[in-house]
Amino acid sequence: MNDLHTTVSTVSTVSIYGDARPELEQTMQMLLGEIEKIRYEMTSELGMDPIEHLLGRIKSEESMREKCRRKGLPETAESALGQIHDAIGVRVVCAFIDDVYTIHDRLLALPHIRLAKEKDYIRHAKPNGYRSFHMIILVDEKIYAEIQLRTISMDTWAALVHHLKYKKELGANTALISEELKRCADELASTDSSMQTLRDMIRELR
Ligand code: GTP
Ligand code: MG
Repeated sequence: MNDLHTTVSTVSTVSIYGDARPELEQTMQMLLGEIEKIRYEMTSELGMDPIEHLLGRIKSEESMREKCRRKGLPETAESALGQIHDAIGVRVVCAFIDDVYTIHDRLLALPHIRLAKEKDYIRHAKPNGYRSFHMIILVDEKIYAEIQLRTISMDTWAALVHHLKYKKELGANTALISEELKRCADELASTDSSMQTLRDMIRELR
């Protein structure tokens, strides 16, 4: 009971996002809506839905505060919205690599979206094998959002690695495990590229 009392009285009621939370929510919904429109157009062009799944999240208070501390920034709305650019995070998971790039291009063609920064970890995988296309965009010259685009294989790999991270000490096998994970990532990438080739062949037959 004492613990409960302490917890309640020390929990800060001031959001790291100040009063910007509704605007963050709105911007995220707008982005999800724009991606759904692109998805709809591409579905009729391709004859298949290019998106396997689509997720959006606002970074939790605690993760945002932790990230501020990690980056040596004060825990303020200015840091959370101005210095850190992934308060809004959207993940688009596609079946095929080409669709990742098509969605990327169509997003950037939208008038109210401007590219701030991008990292193509698909063409340039991280040394650990991680692959994904990361875009930091600025919406209406005001609100930043991170969009991660990847294939199902890339998503599966990242999810598995994420689970393993929580297994903490892998001990003497750490290096071997990292090497094996990297090998899996490379094999998945090679399968992705074969799948893309197969789709291109099938489409040419039509
Ligand atoms: P922060 O990590 O956000 O501080 O910025 P950064 O400059 O490192 O950006 P980057 O684009 O490299 O990573 C942004 C996000 O992508 C991370 O917060 C993770 O969600 C994801 N990510 C990046 N690298 C990896 C990786 O090696 N494995 C996994 N599972 N996720 C990664
Ligand atoms: Mg990082």
